[in-house]
Amino acid sequence: MKRTVKDLVGLKGKVILLRADFNVPIDDGGKILDTTRIERTLPTIKYLIEQKAKVVILSHLGRPKGFEIRKSLFPVAMVLMSKLPCNVDFCNAVVGDEVKNRIKYLKEGNVLLLENTRFYKGEEKCDMDFARQMAELGDIFVNDAFGTAHRKNASTFALARSLPNAIGLLMQNEIDNLSYVIKEPKRPFVAILGGAKVDTKIKIINKFLEIADTIIIGGAMAYTFLLAKGEMVGMSLVQDDCLEIAREILEKAEEAGKKILLPIDHVGVSTSDRKKAVTKVKVLKGDLMGYDIGEETIKLFKKEIDSASQIFWNGPMGMFEDPKFANGTKKIAEAVAHSQAYSIVGGGDTISAVNASGFASQMDFISTGGGASMEFLENGTLPCIEVIQEQIR
Ligand code: 3PG
Repeated sequence: MKRTVKDLVGLKGKVILLRADFNVPIDDGGKILDTTRIERTLPTIKYLIEQKAKVVILSHLGRPKGFEIRKSLFPVAMVLMSKLPCNVDFCNAVVGDEVKNRIKYLKEGNVLLLENTRFYKGEEKCDMDFARQMAELGDIFVNDAFGTAHRKNASTFALARSLPNAIGLLMQNEIDNLSYVIKEPKRPFVAILGGAKVDTKIKIINKFLEIADTIIIGGAMAYTFLLAKGEMVGMSLVQDDCLEIAREILEKAEEAGKKILLPIDHVGVSTSDRKKAVTKVKVLKGDLMGYDIGEETIKLFKKEIDSASQIFWNGPMGMFEDPKFANGTKKIAEAVAHSQAYSIVGGGDTISAVNASGFASQMDFISTGGGASMEFLENGTLPCIEVIQEQIR
């Protein structure tokens, strides 16, 4: 068991460097479109405030190339100000004298958010010197950035090596819930996978072939599997370089007696129709391109979901960002929300899809991780969790 923030004693007056994952979607006007990751970090921040620690928060945002004002964490500071009972200050640097000065005058129980760690080259290079400069700022490192715990960056990995450390409450919650999926899933265990890219999901599909009873595949990745089975997919998105692996996965499932369910009807558009009229079909022929699962597929998937005791869902069932193709994802979200199963949802797009469907509050656990939750399920841990000290019993 990793040491958690609750195992730390004597926090009063200590400078805590808290790594959060505030990599949230922001529009061009600086408006945060989904505050889930911020809300889910609040318990750790509030705990540290109650302990009268001085809380200095680090995070990355997006994938900037050097300093980019649009990737500033300032909008996040505004959200924190509205949600925390203390003062929240913002500093437009991560290391250096200005930061040191602001920390010097930071009062116990207050928060200082630093600028985007990825504005510094050393961050993604996991540079020890950059980590050392960050370490000089505080007394203890707390990592609550589950969404980034698969990235060995300076502020997530190297910094942990430079200071006494612990994980935060969000990180602990993620570890508990995702470990449960791998170690003791209730049966029948149904895994629902969607999204566009097969190549990023191969490892997790193989893992689910081991631990789940049924795998439901929707979203654009389903077309690669359908073509691998010899079915027509029209002009739908197919990853040709993954056809062979898709075939192998289907064979493996059959040998292991595991069910893989694929769409049996579709919602698509003709690529030659300039008006882009929506067509509902059983088979995607000619110039038809699939964008969502059809009603018969929803029924088929729902039947499996209804009889599940455990569900893990990652990836939308169609191009849900367009209301014309959001029905499949919405109906699956509804089915998962209403099922008796313990439901865990993971993955960036899936969180937005579930939020947009209005059923988020009815899921048992929504992971804040995208790639991180997938890697955790594959390996049972992540590098930035491993680097944290064990609990002393
Ligand atoms: C995420 O959103 O998955 C994490 O914040 C990691 O972001 P990255 O994929 O840009 O490293």
